[in-house]
Amino acid sequence: MSQEPQHQAFCAGDHLASEVLVVAIDGPAGSGKSTVAKRLAQRLGLEYLDTGAMYRSVAFAVMARVIDLVDAEAVVEVAKNSVIDIQDSTVTVDGVDATTQIRGPEVTRSVSTVAAIPGVRDVLRVRQRAWVIERGGGVLEGRDIGTAVFPEAQLKVYLSASSQVRAARRAGEVSALDYETVAADLAARDAADTTRQHDPLTQAPDALHLDTTDISIEEVVETLVARLS
Ligand code: DC
Repeated sequence: MSQEPQHQAFCAGDHLASEVLVVAIDGPAGSGKSTVAKRLAQRLGLEYLDTGAMYRSVAFAVMARVIDLVDAEAVVEVAKNSVIDIQDSTVTVDGVDATTQIRGPEVTRSVSTVAAIPGVRDVLRVRQRAWVIERGGGVLEGRDIGTAVFPEAQLKVYLSASSQVRAARRAGEVSALDYETVAADLAARDAADTTRQHDPLTQAPDALHLDTTDISIEEVVETLVARLS
């Protein structure tokens, strides 16, 4: 999937036909969103979009162009002009393979600052809606999919888990970092993502809330498939 700068071609307010199936999965880091979204997409024969990878890609492009994170206008320009290509688990930003670096500590530390800039959110929201319109549906995961990007999604899900379990899951994925470092990063990101002024992470009133602390990914996926049938 190539996400060329195309923000003028689609309007974020475009309404989707009701037969277009969109599943919106939100929740904090380590709540199981990515695994659930990938498996659910496979089960439904839909494509999957990790919108966090898009925010990470913008943070990567900002760093690659040596732009100051506090210069919001310049960061928005980067969001508008960067070419983000997400194919399965490979992410290319402006032609550079950024798959590993977007998950690295530098991007992870700066991504919440980038994600708090309203202009960046506007650009990415339009690209996310365009992605769905091009494919005729999809499973999207992030922080604001059910509340801001697709409030009309047929199924909205909010996943959570205890902070200890979420940190342990993330520490397992990032072998270079110890549990304490991951837990501290996660707590800082949770605070930034839930308290920012624009589109903070919050549960949509009509979202199905599942706490994944003690239930398996398979159980979550089965519950969601049952909801849709
Ligand atoms: O899911 P993740 O940890 O890769 O997301 C990285 C950051 O991007 C996260 O700290 C918050 C931000 N984000 C967002 O603000 N809105 C989204 N829809 C997805 C991610």
